[in-house]
Amino acid sequence: MSAHIRVDRSTPIAPVASRLFGSFVEHMGRSVYTGIYEPTHPTALPNGFRADVLELVKELGPSIIRYPGGNFVSGFRWEDSVGPRAERPVRLDAAWHSVETNEVGLHEFAEWAELAGVEIMQAVNLGTRGLEDAAALLEYTNHRGGTALAEQRRANGRDEPFGVTVWCLGNEMDGPWQIGHKTAEEYGRIAVESGRLMKWIDPSIELVAAGSSNSEMPSFGSWERTVLEHSAEVVDHISLHAYFEERDGDAASFLASAVELDRAIATMASVIDETLAAQGLDKTIGISVDEWNVWYLERFNAVDKEPLLTGVWAEHPRIIEDEYSVTDAVVVGSLLISLLRNSDRVSMANLAQLVNVIAPIRSEPNGPAWRQTTFYPFSLTAAAARGDVLSMKIDSEQVPTSRSGDVDQIDAVATATEDELVLFLVNRSLERAEPVTIDVGDGTTAVRSASTITPPVGGTRFTANTADRPEAVTPMPLTTVALEGSTLTVELPALSWSVIRLSLAGQA
Ligand code: AHR
Repeated sequence: MSAHIRVDRSTPIAPVASRLFGSFVEHMGRSVYTGIYEPTHPTALPNGFRADVLELVKELGPSIIRYPGGNFVSGFRWEDSVGPRAERPVRLDAAWHSVETNEVGLHEFAEWAELAGVEIMQAVNLGTRGLEDAAALLEYTNHRGGTALAEQRRANGRDEPFGVTVWCLGNEMDGPWQIGHKTAEEYGRIAVESGRLMKWIDPSIELVAAGSSNSEMPSFGSWERTVLEHSAEVVDHISLHAYFEERDGDAASFLASAVELDRAIATMASVIDETLAAQGLDKTIGISVDEWNVWYLERFNAVDKEPLLTGVWAEHPRIIEDEYSVTDAVVVGSLLISLLRNSDRVSMANLAQLVNVIAPIRSEPNGPAWRQTTFYPFSLTAAAARGDVLSMKIDSEQVPTSRSGDVDQIDAVATATEDELVLFLVNRSLERAEPVTIDVGDGTTAVRSASTITPPVGGTRFTANTADRPEAVTPMPLTTVALEGSTLTVELPALSWSVIRLSLAGQA
């Protein structure tokens, strides 16, 4: 059998949004401390940030980083993290049962973000706090000068405003695990009031309301409806969080995770449309998938949580340092395909997280830093996806799954600029390599490059990159690609995610 794909270059879905390639740094586990920051590390820069990790972040290519949480933000007092370091208080972080030293705070993170070339997406605490503190943080961050808060920032060494545009109104407020968890009504009210006040202070900002923590929440859909009934007028985006894992060895369902993400996005989109129509509002509200990834939550609940419950409060304990396999990388690649395909609705997306905590980059204290398998689909997509996302028609064999029903064995998306067409493809079969014929349209002149993530020779679908074998899994050349006229043929290896870059119209 073979799959057939027809790329339609005449009707683009939407421009590729660079904010689709965001990530997330939370004050959690070793994300900050011994992750991006370790002043005693051999590669440490004078400001304490790890140069080896920074280089990997640049190579990964995120555009925007959500900060400082996550669950952490719902108990965070931002004032603790600014001013002279010696005077910053050490606090308990009840979200992760950890001790927060506040050695890294707003100013330091902004310095790092500048080095990394990323935009900051700042979250405010709507768990233990409310409008007054959200407004104060915004004034401290973005107001030029002449007020107590803006002058405090200047006295703390930052003359110019930080100019943060994107602000998250709290985090996962629908989850009972959240500090200051709220009903949809309660959260809708605090979101609209905080948001309104924040936009009065700085009308240039964009606000993200907290949507559902995952699409399996019993309130998924109704939470968004209620929250938007209150806040649609003031917010610009609403968040969706989406984590996936392989449960009970059901690889077929796991490999179809993108189908679940497509469905969750479609549900959110219809709630947004209905709410805007009901209120007669002529605006768009984007979906901010501001936490997504593979996360072995079952392992977290069984193993990782224990140290958090021993009663010991430690600084930056190891929490959810998941090690990612080839299978996980293929799923991450297919989730990126889903995000691109939904570019007309998804305004931002953040791979959660960036370093050590369910992350594409791992680092050891006083030791090496390396790329996990999931690093590659992200870095290759972030580097290649430009221009417009194109629609396509896919005819593929079906794979039966227990969670999502029958799904396409081959999934794909394409992007194009004036001189390049890029195809992103996944083969969800664990056993079958699949020949694929793709009608790429006229003017496609040459194959620029083609690479794939698939089990390496001598490896299995479980092979992972570790400190000892950091390059066990790397992208490999895809040698089965041939272009004849407007027809591209390729054999996709079993269990693979691939990217093929093609020159357009005489630009080879
Ligand atoms: O990314 C890890 C955690 O997952 C975040 O703190 C929280 O928002 C989500 O539940």
